[in-house]
Amino acid sequence: MMKIFLLLLSLMAGCEASTEVKVCRDGWVEFYCKYKASETYQIIDVVPPNNSEIRSTQKDQWENKGRYSLYHDTKNKRLKVAIKQLQQENFGEYECEFFQDQNSPDEVEDEVKVAAETDGCQGQFNQTVYRTAKTTITCDYPENKHRFSDKFLCRENKFTCEEILSTSSSVKSNRKYNLTETNRGFSVSISNVSSHDAGLYWCGVNEGNYRTGLRKIQLKVEGGSQVVITLVVCVAVLLLLLFVIILILIYKRCSHSKHRRNGAAEHTREDYVYEEVQDYVQKPDSGNAVTTIYATANFPTNPSASLHHSTIN
Ligand SMILES: *[C@@H]1O[C@H](CO)[C@@H](O)[C@H](O)[C@H]1NC(C)=O
Ligand SMILES: *[C@@H]1O[C@H](CO)[C@@H](O)[C@H](O)[C@H]1NC(C)=O
Ligand SMILES: *[C@@H]1O[C@H](CO)[C@@H](O)[C@H](O)[C@H]1NC(C)=O
Ligand SMILES: *[C@@H]1O[C@H](CO)[C@@H](O)[C@H](O)[C@H]1NC(C)=O
Repeated sequence: MMKIFLLLLSLMAGCEASTEVKVCRDGWVEFYCKYKASETYQIIDVVPPNNSEIRSTQKDQWENKGRYSLYHDTKNKRLKVAIKQLQQENFGEYECEFFQDQNSPDEVEDEVKVAAETDGCQGQFNQTVYRTAKTTITCDYPENKHRFSDKFLCRENKFTCEEILSTSSSVKSNRKYNLTETNRGFSVSISNVSSHDAGLYWCGVNEGNYRTGLRKIQLKVEGGSQVVITLVVCVAVLLLLLFVIILILIYKRCSHSKHRRNGAAEHTREDYVYEEVQDYVQKPDSGNAVTTIYATANFPTNPSASLHHSTIN
């Protein structure tokens, strides 16, 4: 008997209390003002805590009102209210007023209380990825909280946070995204990243009568044309280096054979010269090689004469 009484009491209290929405500071939230399925309304006003009302006149499309965005969803008979970058002045009671038309008085009201979330807010996380690479966004949630709620990754657009994949969606991967559940939440990999993927992402939670973000991820995409230019320059420098090394080798080979021929050997055979050059290549920093180079550079012999001489020989 007592239990039933308590249950009734709590139900009554639940009816009277307005919906409470918990949002992180600097966070983002989307909540709903609902109305009866039998009604149709042309105008809906939202009155934020500072009493400057925001009016929705469009149907089934987003309307941008500064930090607020409104969407009159006629199919589900509700007004979606999205707020970005929640500041202190955005916390408090929100009232929605519904009007049949321009001149009629407001008929019903709905109230939503936006309170500050203190648990699990994780601040901003910056993530940098290179074009065409794959990156993974990790979403961890506080233990024992939101356990039964639908969790999702969304991307902030002009109006609200657009869901990409959620833990409740039947398909958890596609060409671009792949969601894997973890014991603390989930992670989503994004493959073949392009500049279009740069932006603000949120680890979100759907509490039924509102959706909000707990962790903000700023994805930066780097590379592209810059990387291509760097690559081209690197390849050019490498080719140049290779060319110079080949030139030096050829020069060494020539000067060495000249040196030999000039010195003593009168029966210089080609394979003998070749062996000598190989020896130099294997020991590039031997003092002998250096001396030879300097010797050749400082006291050049008469190349044409010796060459001529060798050829005659
Ligand atoms: C009320 O808050 C909104 C958004 O925070 C702001 O644009 C508006 O100027 C405020 N109005 C007053 C009267 O302070
Ligand atoms: C992330 O980048 C923003 C600027 O884009 C910067 O203000 C902020 O301090 C950075 N946060 C971290 C954690 O590095
Ligand atoms: C998604 O990721 C999981 C775990 O990393 C992997 O086993 C699965 O094959 C991936 N699915 C696709 C379609 O890439
Ligand atoms: C990666 O994305 C680009 C367009 O952004 C596309 O042309 C390319 O085929 C994609 N590569 C793969 C492996 O999916």
